[in-house]
Formats: sequence, structure tokens, C-alpha cells
Amino acid sequence: MSTTADGFVTVARVGEIALNGVKIVRVGDAQLAVFHLEDGYFAIEDVCTHDGSPMAGGCLEDGAIECPRHGARFDVRTGRVLRLPASSPVPTYPVRVAGDDIQVEWS
Ligand code: FES
Repeated sequence: MSTTADGFVTVARVGEIALNGVKIVRVGDAQLAVFHLEDGYFAIEDVCTHDGSPMAGGCLEDGAIECPRHGARFDVRTGRVLRLPASSPVPTYPVRVAGDDIQVEWS
């Protein structure tokens, strides 16, 4: 995976992630979940801040992902915690569309 001069990496092609769908990608040492919502694409680290579970396989509803392990919910646009037992936000990464590429900032 190559990085653009301004610090973005291509993680998917436009049309590859269905609306309200997600793609799990590996960037560097991190696993990210890239979501396609009605207002765009959003990327979070796919690691629950409660106890480290992957979250992308959880239920996505109204822009919130629910961790399948203990039910914490996070806003995928902001990373904010919406429901316990997690208490720390999940890291988010800026996403842009460049031509047919969906790119995540990774600098
Ligand atoms: S690991 Fe996600 S809620 Fe516990």
C-alpha cells in the first residue's frame, strides 16, 4: 500500500463498499474499518477501546457501530462513545475520495 505525497493511502475503490457497509483494511500495523454512510466514508480503528475486540462485524445503525463482544456503541463519524462499557473514544481517520479511490489519511 503506497502513501500519496500528502499522506493518504488508497483503501478501496468507489462502489466497492455498499451503502451502510464496511470494509476492513490493514494499514501499517493497524486494522481499520471504513464505513460507507449516506454522507460519505468514515474510518475508525477496528479495535474496541473497552477490551480490544474487532468491531466491524457488529451491528451498524444510524452511524453507530455496536461492539459484538459486550455491546459498547461508537459514533463512526467522530469515534465518540455512545454506550458503555467502553469509556474512551475510538481513533478516527480522515477519509477522502480521489477519482475512483477511497483514501485514508495515514501520516
Ligand atoms: S470489547 Fe467491545 S464492548 Fe467489550
